[in-house]
Amino acid sequence: MTPPQKPKKQPFETAQFDDEALHGRHDPALPVYQEKGEPFEGNSEMPFALFVAVVFLAFGMGVYLTRYSFDFDFFIYDHNKHLILDAGSIKEEVWDPLVQGEKIFKKNCTQCHQTTGLGVPGSYPPLAGSSWLLGIDAIPVRVLLKGLEGPIEVEKAQFNGAMPTFGTKFSDKQIAAVLSYVRQAWGNAAPAVQEGTVTQIRQALGDRSRVFSATELMSVK
Ligand code: HEC
Repeated sequence: MTPPQKPKKQPFETAQFDDEALHGRHDPALPVYQEKGEPFEGNSEMPFALFVAVVFLAFGMGVYLTRYSFDFDFFIYDHNKHLILDAGSIKEEVWDPLVQGEKIFKKNCTQCHQTTGLGVPGSYPPLAGSSWLLGIDAIPVRVLLKGLEGPIEVEKAQFNGAMPTFGTKFSDKQIAAVLSYVRQAWGNAAPAVQEGTVTQIRQALGDRSRVFSATELMSVK
């Protein structure tokens, strides 16, 4: 008996189909290839009606915002603004320092000095009745332009905090407006602050970065 022969190793795997058969399998005329459409790349067109609707919606929102956004000021609802715009002849909103000053105050000062102007005992000094605010305007203008820090006595109460500077945030006109407003709100009765006064003091202080102290303010004339 001859021992079992090892199967002869074949150098290559033999193909299951010959070329001819393969061509036949890929014949596009075969029903299997005709069932589905070929997938394709790219986007399908947006239905025209939807396109028109989106354009109208965007346009409508634009018109609405132009008219009623009020510079996206959260605190402002000025129901007279559209009357001014409707009048057509007046292009710009009339700048009334007291109206603008109140807006600036509500947005920037109430979190500390409160809407009542009474401040928070022990933390934030009152603006209502404060002799610092109601005396010569050169003092509050300096407080707003450069800030105020350290111990201060306001209406017989002691405070020792820090008032942020508004010099870089506000224009001279805005500082004059907000001070004019607080100087006549809550029964206060000091004269309005002129924009020119703020400009002069801003120039005089130059690029001073030091915050004011109450002691320094006392010598301001
Ligand atoms: C983050 C809190 C804060 C904000 C915001 C703030 N202040 Fe003050 N303000 C203070 C503190 C604190 C003092 C006292 C500083 C000290 O202790 O030296 C002060 C002092 C003052 C004073 C002088 C003292 C007095 O009571 O009269 C004036 C005037 C004043 N602030 C006006 C304003 C105005 C106007 C705004 C808004 C534009 C404003 N402050 C925003 C905290 C604040």
